[in-house]
Amino acid sequence: MKLTVIHGSPRKGNTYHAAQLFLHSMKQCEATEVREFFLPNDLPEFCRGCCACVLHGEEHCPHFRYSKPILDSMLESDALIFTTPVYVMSASGGMKNFLDHFPFLFMVHRPRPEFFHKKVFIISTTVGAGLKSAMKPIARCLKYWGINKVYQTGFRMFALEWGDMPEKRQKKYACRLDRSAEKFWRAVRKGDSTPYVFSRFFFFLCRVMYKRHTAASLDRQYWEAHGWLGGKTPFHNPVSTPHPKNS
Ligand SMILES: Cc1cc2nc3c(=O)[nH]c(=O)nc-3n(C[C@H](O)[C@H](O)[C@H](O)COP(=O)(O)O)c2cc1C
Repeated sequence: MKLTVIHGSPRKGNTYHAAQLFLHSMKQCEATEVREFFLPNDLPEFCRGCCACVLHGEEHCPHFRYSKPILDSMLESDALIFTTPVYVMSASGGMKNFLDHFPFLFMVHRPRPEFFHKKVFIISTTVGAGLKSAMKPIARCLKYWGINKVYQTGFRMFALEWGDMPEKRQKKYACRLDRSAEKFWRAVRKGDSTPYVFSRFFFFLCRVMYKRHTAASLDRQYWEAHGWLGGKTPFHNPVSTPHPKNS
């Protein structure tokens, strides 16, 4: 199985530790190839807000040399893992900046059909508060990309370092990560889950919009080229990822 991990922080701290436990358990389920990107190191520029990616094509982004390898890796992977520490009740700035570089993937623009058949797991850690408000914007954004299913788990540590937690809590969290990893692996191997009602609704809303507004645009051309203004949808024709034991 191929996995791409987007780390919201370059610090090999608590969130990294949780991600490593999760990956270790995934590797117990199946031989796994992992490609890791660390933010902001692997995408060190702030989005300039020029909208070139949306209007003219993603290759016109001034930071395409950074975003392309990450996008390629995500597209080639069977599943994705996003991690973020909680910073001031939210996701890390690196993670927000990462998402800011991919607005063209939103369903209303040029969503990649591959993403409609991928699942994502989000991992976050905090000292005390903010898990929900850190993970929710990431999950919401990924749903606009068309991601088939988003899972998430967060760890309230009441400590600054993983090793400072009482041993009992460390074991409990390791156990939760192990169970979550196995569940996630099963879900990825099983294939597509029923798409979110939101995703289907939003896709059909975009289709109606493009059918009514026929003005030429890169986005409309893209929708037309994929046959989405006719009967086709990206929810069908899953890219099959056969289980190695069956292949
Ligand atoms: C800039 C910054 C902001 C933080 N904001 C919060 C916060 O709002 N609430 C909280 O409970 N912990 C907060 N923390 C603590 C981190 O969420 C916590 O230590 C986390 O486990 C760090 O993950 P890491 O070791 O992967 O960097 C903050 C830490 C930093 C560095």
